Amino acid sequence: MEDPNRDSQGVPEAIEKLDIQKPRDALPPTPPETDDGASNSSADAQVDIPLPPPSTTPEKVLDVDLKTPDAHIPRDPRLIRLTGVHPFNVEAPLTDLFNEGFLTSPELFYVRNHGAVPEVTDAEIPNWEFTVEGMVDNPLTISLRQLMSEYEQITCPITLVCAGNRRKEQNVVRKTKGFSWGAAGVSTALWTGVALSEVIRRAEPKRKAKYVCMEGADKLPNGYYGTSVKLNWVLDPNRGVMLAYNMNGETLTPDHGKPLRVVIPGQIGGRSVKWLRKLILTEDPSDNWYHIYDNRVLPTMVSPEQSANDPKWWTDERYAIYDLNPNSAICFPVHEEQVSISQGPETYRARGYAYSGGGRRITRVEITLDKGKSWQLANVEYPEDRYREFERDLYGGRMDMSWRESCFCWCFWWIDLNKEDLKNAKDIFVRSMDESMNVQPRDMYWSVLGMMNNPWFRVTIDIQGDTMRFEHPTQPALMPGGWMERVKKAGGNLANGFWGERLEGEGQEAAKVDEQKEICMIKEGLKVPITIDELRKHDTAEEPWFVLNGEVYDGTKFLEEHPGGAQSIVSAAGVDATEEFMAIHSETAKTMMTNYHIGSLDDAARTTLAAGETEAGAASETREHFLQPKVWTKAILHGKKIVSWDTRIFTFKLDHAEQKLGLPVGQHLMVRLHDPATREAIIRSYTPISEINDLGYMDMLVKVYFATNGSKGGKMSMAMDSLPIGHFIEMKGPIGKFEYKGEGLCLIGGKERRIKSFVMICGGSGITPIYQVFRAVMRDREDRTKCTILDGNRLFEDILVKEELEALSEGNDAKCKILHTLTRAPGHWTGLRGRITGKLVEEHCVRDQETLVLICGPETMEKAMHVALKEQGWQDDQLMFF
Ligand code: MTE
Repeated sequence: MEDPNRDSQGVPEAIEKLDIQKPRDALPPTPPETDDGASNSSADAQVDIPLPPPSTTPEKVLDVDLKTPDAHIPRDPRLIRLTGVHPFNVEAPLTDLFNEGFLTSPELFYVRNHGAVPEVTDAEIPNWEFTVEGMVDNPLTISLRQLMSEYEQITCPITLVCAGNRRKEQNVVRKTKGFSWGAAGVSTALWTGVALSEVIRRAEPKRKAKYVCMEGADKLPNGYYGTSVKLNWVLDPNRGVMLAYNMNGETLTPDHGKPLRVVIPGQIGGRSVKWLRKLILTEDPSDNWYHIYDNRVLPTMVSPEQSANDPKWWTDERYAIYDLNPNSAICFPVHEEQVSISQGPETYRARGYAYSGGGRRITRVEITLDKGKSWQLANVEYPEDRYREFERDLYGGRMDMSWRESCFCWCFWWIDLNKEDLKNAKDIFVRSMDESMNVQPRDMYWSVLGMMNNPWFRVTIDIQGDTMRFEHPTQPALMPGGWMERVKKAGGNLANGFWGERLEGEGQEAAKVDEQKEICMIKEGLKVPITIDELRKHDTAEEPWFVLNGEVYDGTKFLEEHPGGAQSIVSAAGVDATEEFMAIHSETAKTMMTNYHIGSLDDAARTTLAAGETEAGAASETREHFLQPKVWTKAILHGKKIVSWDTRIFTFKLDHAEQKLGLPVGQHLMVRLHDPATREAIIRSYTPISEINDLGYMDMLVKVYFATNGSKGGKMSMAMDSLPIGHFIEMKGPIGKFEYKGEGLCLIGGKERRIKSFVMICGGSGITPIYQVFRAVMRDREDRTKCTILDGNRLFEDILVKEELEALSEGNDAKCKILHTLTRAPGHWTGLRGRITGKLVEEHCVRDQETLVLICGPETMEKAMHVALKEQGWQDDQLMFF
């Protein structure tokens, strides 16, 4: 094997020889590499270490970010957005990342943000404070000014890797709970700061302290982001854990933790807390929500449902990820690269990266062209080793890696492959091994969160005449492409142990990973490509087209019948509605979608939607109404009133003091939160109890369905109940088929209808939409509509808004009747007993053409009432189910 230090051809322009004494702008042109690549360090100022690639700090805030809480951050448009516009989770195109070389410019460095980025101005940096507390004898509050002046400053190259790197491959096999990283969730920088051990030692840990918990300043739905690592790792110099305020010699960018973050080499990026505010020494691992429900590899047989139903999977510390596993990827050939077989050199140089965890060196990288029957050794270059010779200050920190043997950075491999061999091969695989002989596995280890995916990386070869065309496994986010998607679409079973290929003379192997039961929502054989312009043309109320999983549906014919009202279809027009649709629709509804399927987005359209170029909504500070039909808007939880052991009134703050919610009487809004266990979106509809014209705030009455031995509890209500004050939920609307305009005028599916009386049947928290309508009728003296409320509950304490209903009915006896019935009534109860039945309706209400029945309650109650009322002769158009 050639000496890696004598040939840098495999490394993409990684090694620069620069005069680091001078500011970057004044750098002389990079001297050419000497022929043999040998060091050219005769002059003291000239050093032969990898230095950052030319970097252009973005100055403009991108349009897509303007309407988000991150509107203060200029970003590089090349980054691929993996979770829509916000929060910002991105990776660079793999080739761009690789071409950066050993160090990545901050603007192309991958970003993983769970929420909005805290805004910190340059002037505030020196006064930024963090605490060291918990099991310490000398608790500390340290400002960044002190950190920079009272501690030894160090600089060190460290690679960060997101535990989700390469997750898209898992998602193609079976959808995990995580979003789709390609193979560029990895980046390297020179970090300047202070060894964390020094800070912790000054705080004097108590004898039983075993963990260092860390907390950031980013407020998230489930508390501040936080996690922990072992104290003995932090104190071990070989582990190199540090606090960093500079990256590649410049102040951290907001996305990477400005002004201060933790950097933990060799471990998954999730442990390197950004915007650091607290270090807490404890006896046990962190109980932070993000420590428990994130960054774990659960056993492969645990399904998403099982993990959501049983918290024990999440609290088992054995499944928490710390050290990275060995991993590698092929960067050249790039995806879709075409190479002539007969033209040019006889060999093709394949190149890529590899890394491992815990400071372990990658000790070999191997390539196979025959699916693992035989392997060739690739050349490996370790640019990190060049710093080991170097002992001096760099970017204001002492760099001294000579004594330490751990490897904290990625390395690069390359190999010259004979084109004739490639022509006869179907694919190229790479696998790496580290110094503990941990080797990348052949088969994928699928798990619920899809983390640490590291099977052999495979690029397929397709020969077309004289051309070889290469294909990577996947493309990031929703971007189409890659052999995995292709094989899956063609019916191949990706989990058959042979990359979904059918072996000659054999049928498909039994799946090792259960394929999720997927409901077919498309018309078999329909192949109509639809462009983004065509989709956007149908962003109309008359002909609403919308997108589910990349497929296009025309909702026009369903506008009238849609049980959720036309508005929710119109709201989805022109956008990707997958998340909401999947969250709130039954299997039956999903099956019906084939009727409305009209084609598939073309590749460019998918990429555009994936990049999040959707409508961002009008500026919140000027909007009269808070709710927007197509865009989720964040409302901050302002207060929580405990009404009873299981009932709360949540007060949410709107965008500005003069803003109205914008919800017509009788309509609902959608609320979105993320499931604490699985991070799946939970979407439910609610009706607030505050007045529709209230300014600046809105109140929502919510009954919390707690988990009991017999039931899982209500996902949404429990998640909302655990929301800390100051955190947000997202809302969108209005939706609903029904609207009350006053004085007996209703709008049902957009059509006007005059009525003289309402029968209002409700159970539990189903009272909330009823209450809105009832209030509107009672408050308006001119409104002579009669209302009969039949409200069913279990216990007396379960009756919601009882006093409010009574106050509204006072003096309105001629107009209304309120009947509560209880299934477990106390002895002194003088009201009705038992469930709401058809008989009750018959006894207390008159059936005529000018009466409308509004029904809202548990599904079983709604179904039973439907049957009972139909038996009495009520027609469907007299019944309005919320
Ligand atoms: N720290 C805070 N405070 N908030 C976060 O969302 N994300 C973590 C970690 N630290 C996160 C955080 C995750 S999952 C990763 S992979 C790394 O930050 C990513 O660091 P980067 O965005 O600088 O690449």
